[in-house]
Amino acid sequence: MQSGQHWEQVYTTRDATSVSWFQEHARQSMALIRRSKLGSGDAIIDVGGGASTLVDDLLDAGYSNVTILDLSAAALAASRGRLGERARQVTWQVGDVTQLGLPRHAYALWHDRAVFHFLTTVDEREAYVRAVLRAVRPGGHVIVATFAENGPEKCSGLPVVRYSPERLHAEFGAPFTLLGQTRESHHTPAGAVQKFIYCWCRRESHSGDTPGGGPHSMAASVGSAADLREAARGRSCRWAACP
Ligand SMILES: C[S@@+](CC[C@H](N)C(=O)[O-])C[C@H]1O[C@@H](n2cnc3c(N)ncnc32)[C@H](O)[C@@H]1O
Repeated sequence: MQSGQHWEQVYTTRDATSVSWFQEHARQSMALIRRSKLGSGDAIIDVGGGASTLVDDLLDAGYSNVTILDLSAAALAASRGRLGERARQVTWQVGDVTQLGLPRHAYALWHDRAVFHFLTTVDEREAYVRAVLRAVRPGGHVIVATFAENGPEKCSGLPVVRYSPERLHAEFGAPFTLLGQTRESHHTPAGAVQKFIYCWCRRESHSGDTPGGGPHSMAASVGSAADLREAARGRSCRWAACP
């Protein structure tokens, strides 16, 4: 089954509050977003936002320029239904983050909880990082949360790649300065505990970071060939700003 069909089936057959990733409030995400010190009109995109309640919290906090992107139209419909009239304040976009041409330097903040970890091939991960570099303005913020090294091996029945904060940051490379990292024990509606990590980065402006360069070729200006090979394997974080 194609990924899009998988997610459409999930959101058409399950209540959004019963899925394992459901959170009544996205507290960890909101804490990092607040630390990013955005203006209320700065553009925020929640990538793979699904039916997450993060959008509710963002609107409650006064952010007025919010886009939710997801593969599943049914997921976005669930969020729109929950928000009612307030859904008109939000931009809703159906698509695949690794394939869409998002507008250049349009967003001050990129948020992703539990999407990047589904990208199990190098090609998919490079396409994702290219999308971040294209869509986030230099100086903008990037928050990505995945299952931790000791987290589950599957999410929604699909295989995932698990990360330490260092390994996740290495996937993004030199154009991203790691500002902070944190861990979370997520309690699923069924009562299980899932270990997450969050990386909070600033997207720097580097020469050669135009779309099409690829994350590792972009890092070539600051890393040796050995650094790049290790980073491509996700094993090290030798560049600046690693903890
Ligand atoms: C585990 S859910 C997490 C949803 C939400 N971020 C949250 O924390 O509640 C993963 C979400 O990512 C979406 N997704 C998966 N792959 C995607 C892709 N390539 N592009 C956009 N969305 C994707 C799915 O439809 C699903 O809503």
